[in-house]
Amino acid sequence: MDGNGRWARKRLLPRVAGHRRGLETVRSMIRSCIEAGVEFLTLFAFSSENWRRPAEEVSFLLDLFIRALENEVVKLDDNGIRLRVLGDLGGFEPRLVSLIRAAEARTEGNTRLTLSIAANYGGRWDILQAVNRMSAEHPPRPEGYSEELLGGYLALSFAPEPDLFIRTGGEQRVSNFCLWQLAYAELYFTEILWPDFDAQAFSLALESYAQRERRFGRTSEQVTAQKGQTPPRAIEPE
Ligand code: IPE
Ligand code: MG
Repeated sequence: MDGNGRWARKRLLPRVAGHRRGLETVRSMIRSCIEAGVEFLTLFAFSSENWRRPAEEVSFLLDLFIRALENEVVKLDDNGIRLRVLGDLGGFEPRLVSLIRAAEARTEGNTRLTLSIAANYGGRWDILQAVNRMSAEHPPRPEGYSEELLGGYLALSFAPEPDLFIRTGGEQRVSNFCLWQLAYAELYFTEILWPDFDAQAFSLALESYAQRERRFGRTSEQVTAQKGQTPPRAIEPE
C-alpha cells in the first residue's frame, strides 16, 4: 500500500491525511476482494524499516492501527472475515499486542476472507524467525531441512502461496515483502497512489492477472495441453 504521503502532499495536506484516506481504501479493497471471491488478502501496513520515519508519523500510524482494531473488528467478524497480523509483535506496546491477539481470537473461525495485516514485518525477518524456530524444534540432520518443513514456520504458513502481488504508488520493487512466498506470484505495479486505488483499479489488476500464463517452470505447450486438468502448483512433491 504505497503512495499515501504523495496523495496528501498533492493536496497540500499533511502526510498523515493520506494514511487516514488509505484506511478507506483498505475498507473498499476488502469489499472488492469478497465480491471477486478472493479468499486471502495480505496488506503490507508497516514495515520493520518504517520505524525510521519521523516519530509523529510513526505514532500516527500506530494510533490508526489501534483505532481500527478497536472500531472495526466487530464489523470484520460480522462479515465472516478472519484477521491475522504478521510481524514482530515484540516491537509494539502491550496494549496493541493484546488488541491484536483478541481480534485474531475473535475472528479465528471465519472463512470468507482471511485478511492478514503485515505490521513490523519484513520478509527477511520472517525467513530468519522461521529458521530459528524450526532449528530449535528440529536438530540439524544430515539430509538437511526441506522447503515444506520451513514453510510451516513462516508467518503466512496458514495461507496458500499468493497468486497476485500488487504494489501501488509507482515504485517497481518488492521492498522486503513476503520474499519467500512471492517466488511464483504474478507481480503487478501501478502508478495509482494507494488512496486512489479503487474497485476499478483493482479489476484492472485482476484482468492483467487473468492474462498471465502461469507456467511454474514448464513450457507454454505443456501448460496448454494441461488446460482443463488440475492446475500445476508452484512447488510439487517429488
Ligand atoms: C503508505 O504510503 C505506506 C505506509 C507505511 C502506510 P507512504 O507513506 O509510503 O506514501 P509515500 O510513498 O510517501 O507517498
Ligand atoms: Mg512510500
